[in-house]
Amino acid sequence: MSSSRQPITKVVIPAAGLGTRLRPVTKIQPKEMLPVARKPTIQYVVEEAIRVGLHAVLIITGARKRAIEDHFDKDLTNHEAVDELDYERLGVRFFFVRQSEQRGLADAISLAEEFVAGEPFVVALGDTILWSDANQPLLQRLMDVHIQQGAAATIAVERVSRESVSRYGIVAPKSGTADGVFELVGLVEKPDPDSAPSNYAIASRYVFAPPIFDAIRAIKQRPPGKGGEFQLTDAIQWLLEQGRSVWAVQLARDEKRYDIGNFETYWKAFLEICLSDKEFGESVEQHLRQMLERRD
Ligand code: UTP
Repeated sequence: MSSSRQPITKVVIPAAGLGTRLRPVTKIQPKEMLPVARKPTIQYVVEEAIRVGLHAVLIITGARKRAIEDHFDKDLTNHEAVDELDYERLGVRFFFVRQSEQRGLADAISLAEEFVAGEPFVVALGDTILWSDANQPLLQRLMDVHIQQGAAATIAVERVSRESVSRYGIVAPKSGTADGVFELVGLVEKPDPDSAPSNYAIASRYVFAPPIFDAIRAIKQRPPGKGGEFQLTDAIQWLLEQGRSVWAVQLARDEKRYDIGNFETYWKAFLEICLSDKEFGESVEQHLRQMLERRD
C-alpha cells in the first residue's frame, strides 16, 4: 500500500516552463503571472489549493520567474482589495525551488522530494485555472479517492473530442467510466486519434504518493520522452508497470479547465472569467453583444 491515511496538506505548483507558445509575451514575463480578469493565473491556482486545506505551497520556478515570488510576498496577502482570502490567518506558507534547466514536468516534480518529506501531495499546474462551482471541489474529490483507494497516483481527467486527443496526455481506463471515478491500466502522451486508448485527457491536477519520486528516477535512466522532456505521464506509466494502482477522477459538469498556455485558450479564459465578474461582467457582456451585432 503506497498511500497513508494522513490528511494531505502540501501542494506543488510547477511554474518553471518557458512558455514558448506565448512569445513574445513570455520573453521576460512568467506565463503563470499573466492576468485573467483581476488576478494573475497562478493566484487562482494557489487559492484553489488553500480552499481545500492545503497550506504548504511549493512553487517550482526558474529563469525569469522572479515575479512569482514577489507576488506572494506579505503585502499582497494583507491587501484586502486584491484578495478575498486572508493567507496569513489561514497559516499558508510559501516555499520556492528553482528548476535551472527545463527538462520537463517530471523533472520539475522531482525537485519537490525534500519538501514533500514522505507525505502524499497534490500537484496543480501553474498555468491552468480550474473553475469549480461543484459542492465538493475537484481537488477534494481527488484527495478523497486517492486516500480511499490507497492509490500511488490519482489524476483529474476531462473528456475531449477524439480529434483533439493528440494535444493531451490520454488515459486508458481499466473498465467502466460511468460514475466519473475509475482505475487506470495505462496512459499515453499525445497519442494519434486512431490509437488513443480513450478520449479522457489528463486535466492538470494530480495527487501522488511518494513512490512517484522512484518512478521519476527510473524514467530518468532512459532517454527523455515526447518533446525531448521527461514526461510525468511516463513516470505514472512506470508506477502502473510496477503493479501500483492509479485512479482517475473526472471533472464535474460545473467544473471547467482554463489552460492559459496558448493564445487561443488564454483569450477565451480571459473573456469568460471577465464575464463572470460581479462588478463589471454585465457591462462587458453588453459591450461584446453590441460589438458582435455591429459586425453582423
Ligand atoms: P507546459 O509544457 O504547458 O509549459 O507545462 P511550457 O513548457 O512552459 O510551454 P511551451 O510549450 O514552452 O509553451 C505545464 C506546466 O508545467 C510547468 C510549466 O511552467 C507549466 O505551468 N513546467 C513545464 C515546469 O515547471 N518545468 C518544465 O520543465 C516544464
